Amino acid sequence: MSKRDLLSLRDISRAEIGQVFSLARRLKREQKQGILHRLLKGKTLALIFEKPSLRTRVSFETGMAQLGGHAVFLGPQEIQLGVRESPSDCARSLSRWVDIIVARTFSQEVLEEMAVAASVPVVNGLTDLFHPCQVLTDCFTLLEHKRRLEGLKIVFVGDGNNMVHSWMQAAVKFPFSFVLACPKGYEPDPEVTRAAKEGGGRITITHRAEEAALGADVIYTDVWTSMGQESEAEIRRKVFKGYQVNEALVALAGREAVVMHCLPAHRGEEITQEVLEGPRSIAFDQAENRLHVQKAILLWILKGVERSRAKGLKGKR
Ligand code: CP
Ligand code: NVA
Repeated sequence: MSKRDLLSLRDISRAEIGQVFSLARRLKREQKQGILHRLLKGKTLALIFEKPSLRTRVSFETGMAQLGGHAVFLGPQEIQLGVRESPSDCARSLSRWVDIIVARTFSQEVLEEMAVAASVPVVNGLTDLFHPCQVLTDCFTLLEHKRRLEGLKIVFVGDGNNMVHSWMQAAVKFPFSFVLACPKGYEPDPEVTRAAKEGGGRITITHRAEEAALGADVIYTDVWTSMGQESEAEIRRKVFKGYQVNEALVALAGREAVVMHCLPAHRGEEITQEVLEGPRSIAFDQAENRLHVQKAILLWILKGVERSRAKGLKGKR
């Protein structure tokens, strides 16, 4: 059987997402009951990071430890991808030692180059183009809060960035409607948008945040300046001024609307303190669920969900 990579949501079917989610639900419940699993005993994960991270790094490292495995962190200084060594040589060497690679790179092409060269699975821990682990976690978190994804109106206010690209890919898998409100000139990648629309995603792109927020079930936002765009921060602060998730904007959403943020948040820029700390915010539930969903992803890739279920999830304490 060929190895499974997770470079974007195109690499996982809706049925497989469902399996990953039920496994994640079970892992979450059992972890809270103190039931431990050692299903990845003897397995090693290499974490390659060209950019900073809190959530992705800690949730993958902790997840590996909780499943009995081990993680090796390699930051920008250690590997110097493309400078000290080519991405493919790095991936080929790592494949001789470790069982799986999670990489956070700037370019999606570098990640893809590593995936082609690696004989072990490669998982996208965020690139400039996609953040699949985050969006899978977000859908899982929404299911916990809303019990369904079908028919939801999910409104993303802000930059047409990697998060938006992954949300548009998620819209191909799930029948929710995805609306992006972004400033002119900050629309998502046209190729990703076209593919998602052609794949059946219900996607609307507008420049009017207030109009978009009307009746929303979910208001989602992310930083105005993503990692790697720091030199544009000042201009972006001006351009994105009308795209802040604040109480006035949230008041336009549905009565039961939730507010989501992948974090890190810049309070006072894309979201206000009141909203992020307010009763509708589920941002820290999202952060927690990175752990549970990614543990399920690791098991899905390394063991196959069905086998993990059959084998020992009833488990060893
Ligand atoms: N949301 C997210 O991926 O956070 P980090 O950048 O801290 O990993
Ligand atoms: N769009 C953000 C997401 C951070 C999790 C970035 O790429 O910096």
